[in-house]
Amino acid sequence: MEDPLKQSFLSEIGQVSSLQELLNIKARYIGKKGLLTEKIKGLGNLSTEDRKFYGKYYNELKNFIEELLKTKESELKQREIEHSLRKDIIDITLPGKDYYFGGCHPVNKTLIEIIKIFQELGFTVEEGPEVELDYYNFEALNIPKNHPARDMQDTFYVSEEVVLRTHTSPVQVRVMEKKKPPLRFISPGKVYRCDSDVTHTPMFHQVEGLMVDEDVSFSHLKGVLVYFLERLFGENTPVRFRPSFFPFTEPSTEIDIGCIICGAKGCRVCKGTGWLEVLGAGMVHPNVFRFAGYPEGKYTGFAFGMGVERLTMLKYGIDDIRLFFENDIRFLRQF
Ligand code: DAH
Repeated sequence: MEDPLKQSFLSEIGQVSSLQELLNIKARYIGKKGLLTEKIKGLGNLSTEDRKFYGKYYNELKNFIEELLKTKESELKQREIEHSLRKDIIDITLPGKDYYFGGCHPVNKTLIEIIKIFQELGFTVEEGPEVELDYYNFEALNIPKNHPARDMQDTFYVSEEVVLRTHTSPVQVRVMEKKKPPLRFISPGKVYRCDSDVTHTPMFHQVEGLMVDEDVSFSHLKGVLVYFLERLFGENTPVRFRPSFFPFTEPSTEIDIGCIICGAKGCRVCKGTGWLEVLGAGMVHPNVFRFAGYPEGKYTGFAFGMGVERLTMLKYGIDDIRLFFENDIRFLRQF
């Protein structure tokens, strides 16, 4: 007849499914107070003959149990390894994750295009401060103290003498103070005006341009700016010059292109005129040369300025300037 101790051990180990369970069984049979351990401890109470017989038997049973526990343990460990391998398996046939790539902001796109065209014409790029002295923003550009452009409604004043520049024109004077003609540069950057609606934001971008030498004439202005507009909007874009006024140029002009929204037929964007204003320009006023410290009557030059958001809106048919600054990914992804 089989030993019931051995039998119960065999049945328990047959059902074991984890290392923890195995440890429990080990403790139950051959631990300090284990069933077999107790029996071995009780050997001393037996007769010499029985002690000899059971001593041998329990020893063999203990070896047998230990052997089986060891085998089972390595079996369970192996099974655990296989399980975790199966769990962590990488299915290389699954499709990869999609990555969203950033893109160039439409305003930046236009800016880069503008800079490229002028660089090809030999213009360099100059920069000036956004927090500007009233002197450079107004005074040195022949904008006197009582000029409407200085109205608190338009200008962010930091202090009596310091403003957030309202245009990129102050860079003209800053560069002329440092460099002698021939000069040929553009100056892109942020400008600030206290204004906000569908066509105005408190911060926007302008590109200023200046060309100065001993005999720069209005025909140079025309040649450069017509070429520029044809590059930006297409070769057959109609361009027209209108007389205008800026304190820092004389004569001054505003430049229009045929409306690209309606094909110059007249629409809401061009207010039925068929034309869109895209540039301000003119021949540098002698007073501006005077403020820059250039010798009287020696140089002539032309200057121009444009709004980058406005050009971008026209180029891509965008009707609300605020879209540029909301960073709505659905809007930006279209460019
Ligand atoms: N500074 C003008 C503005 O912000 C734009 C401008 C007009 C710049 C004529 C010029 C210029 O250099 O000659 O509206």
